[in-house]
Amino acid sequence: MKDRISVEDLLSADHFERELRADVVKGFGSAQKSLPPKWFYDDEGSLLFERITGLPEYYPSRAEREILGDRAARIAETGARSLIELGSGSSEKTRILLDALHPEVYVPVDVSRGALEAAARGLSSAYPGLAVRAVVGDFQHDLRLPRFQAPRLLAFLGGTIGNLLPEQRERFLSDVRGLLEPGDALLVGADLVKDVPTLVAAYDDAEGVTAAFNKNVLKVLNRRLRADFDPEDFEHVARWDEDGERIEMRLRAVREVTAEFAELGLAVRFEKGEELLTETSAKFRPDGLRGELVRAGFEPRHWWTDAGARYGLCLAAVPPS
Ligand code: SAH
Ligand code: TRP
Repeated sequence: MKDRISVEDLLSADHFERELRADVVKGFGSAQKSLPPKWFYDDEGSLLFERITGLPEYYPSRAEREILGDRAARIAETGARSLIELGSGSSEKTRILLDALHPEVYVPVDVSRGALEAAARGLSSAYPGLAVRAVVGDFQHDLRLPRFQAPRLLAFLGGTIGNLLPEQRERFLSDVRGLLEPGDALLVGADLVKDVPTLVAAYDDAEGVTAAFNKNVLKVLNRRLRADFDPEDFEHVARWDEDGERIEMRLRAVREVTAEFAELGLAVRFEKGEELLTETSAKFRPDGLRGELVRAGFEPRHWWTDAGARYGLCLAAVPPS
């Protein structure tokens, strides 16, 4: 029965290191220092994110779970035989879809090998009839998946679409469209614009789990590029950017900091108070997201929110071409 699970690795260790290096050289060399958010998710980062999803302040996971529970039967009417999920993490909420849809194949795609393996093991014992074809990959680069049994449902949950910048979203949605065929469907979850205190609290919890998650990226740099950051030299900042309608996560140097990347022969300096931008999390308005889907060639069919209208889930069809 072992062959019901497979884990295909599209990210050679080498590719990963090369990309991290390039991101560091570019990101730390800019006037506004920044790093792409995918580097948060080593094994430790994935576990910390799982804890975030259970925090009282982090409403998006609960809101999305509520909508999935309410609408699973309607989503199952897509008749999908394959369920592909990008940025699947622990695949916990996905169980609601699996229970309603009974697909033959589930294809979770994530950069975090640890999270994928744990999810694949858990799912294959809970769903004896299901084939799990896990893919360790970067959904911003290698969206060359095999053509799984049609019709397909491609799910992109957790509000992760908000972690892409507008031009990255455009490219991503067009890549996703290229992966699908008429008759397939797309399910996207997105966090919505709302009052600022609620938004900020979701990214700056009282217990400090999000702060630990944010600082974990420094440990990733220490381990993978032999850098010498002291996480204590930085404080966690979550800020609402009114113009971009997005939360920005930053790490602010609490004193002047110099750090070396032994692996790169590179030294970087932070003034006291200088910030590293580690993530943006855009919040959406229903028409904005639907417009982006239409421009990418999708036909939004349903737009659902939780009872509190905090979070939205869109089911879109791939129309005949
Ligand atoms: N879908 C889950 C997890 C959301 S967190 C949920 O709703 O709870 C975002 C997930 O996307 C993490 O598991 C992270 O490892 C993954 N991820 C982030 N950037 C990625 C990328 N570029 N390619 C593939 N996976 C990525
Ligand atoms: N997709 C999640 C979001 O934007 C990821 C996330 C939640 C996150 N909390 C975070 C990323 C804190 C970085 C830091 O809501």
